[in-house]
Amino acid sequence: MPILQSFGPAAGTAPAHRPVPGAQEPGPAAAARRHGVLPMPSLEWNEQVARETAPLYARVAKVVPAVEWPFFAPYVKAINALKKERNAVILAHNYQTPEIYNCVADFVGDSLQLAREASKVDADIIVQCGVHFMAETSKILNPDKTVLIPDSRAGCSLAASITGADVRVLREKFPGVPVVAYVNTSAEVKAEVDICCTSSNALEVVESLGAERVIFLPDQYLASYVASLTKVKIIAWKGACEVHERFTADELRRYRDGDPALQIIAHPECPPDVLAEADYTGSTAGMIDWVRRNRPSRVIMVTECSMADNVQAELPDIEFVRPCNLCPHMKRITLPKILDSLVYLKEEVVIDPAIAARARRSVERMVNLRPS
Ligand code: 13P
Ligand code: SF4
Repeated sequence: MPILQSFGPAAGTAPAHRPVPGAQEPGPAAAARRHGVLPMPSLEWNEQVARETAPLYARVAKVVPAVEWPFFAPYVKAINALKKERNAVILAHNYQTPEIYNCVADFVGDSLQLAREASKVDADIIVQCGVHFMAETSKILNPDKTVLIPDSRAGCSLAASITGADVRVLREKFPGVPVVAYVNTSAEVKAEVDICCTSSNALEVVESLGAERVIFLPDQYLASYVASLTKVKIIAWKGACEVHERFTADELRRYRDGDPALQIIAHPECPPDVLAEADYTGSTAGMIDWVRRNRPSRVIMVTECSMADNVQAELPDIEFVRPCNLCPHMKRITLPKILDSLVYLKEEVVIDPAIAARARRSVERMVNLRPS
């Protein structure tokens, strides 16, 4: 079923990055007042640090050169100690770099897994290693906890492509048509919609509404992927992920021509002609599971570049072919900034409580959706 109609920024243009709201009053100062600032731990590289962090280095030795470990190891040691002292957890997205994903994260996953985990967190502080909408989702689900993001400028071209006012205009245009928002949206947008979805449950969420037509925003490509799998008529918004829209079907065909046995697996944020070349399409966690189950000898993961490093660290015998597109927003998160978060309690995610309460309804409706 093709897309019924679409609205929004012109197709094929990456929407300008709209600055994400940073920590505001009561922001970093308020979090520091509540939890207290700690002294900066020693970041000296010595034999003891080398010994203590050796088991963690073993996890990433295939993807982190030995020469880089003396820089990372003191941060890894300090962050892991501070997490205990602060009663904090680190939730990290699959696109985080290997030293974050493998050495300091308590939980890793795709957006749905991170949201589900955030709804169960027992710690006082959540440090979200991902982009701003992910940290907002954790805050929406944990209004009484301190949620920190190591760099609040970590945005997302999809989240920046649409505002709450845009959703209200769509509702006026299509009265009574339910609105589904990909979690890659701001809290303000989540507050205006009926339910959220992620790339791993988008079809299920759309069909759960029992409607003939659904407004699906803001990713035009995820919308057209869902439209290809359902009879529900999809009205889409023309946002796009600036990372996934760079892949082309031509480049994938060239890789495949050089090795017909090559497996191609893709994220549904890619354009339809790219997905047409893929042997499997799924969320970041779906892609990782696919590789674990199928153990291809050579594979391209058509998604953000760091994910191949993380799977490579776990499965060293698989050869990953890498057309390397990095998400500049995900890459703003680094070990030094995570350490600053835990020492100085920055940068706190703050959401207007009235907006958060309305956004919670659409996020919880998704989290509580049971497979049919
Ligand atoms: P996943 O939910 O599949 O992890 O996707 C999030 C994302 O931002 C992909 O670009
Ligand atoms: Fe947003 Fe794309 Fe980065 Fe994912 S990869 S966070 S969709 S810009």
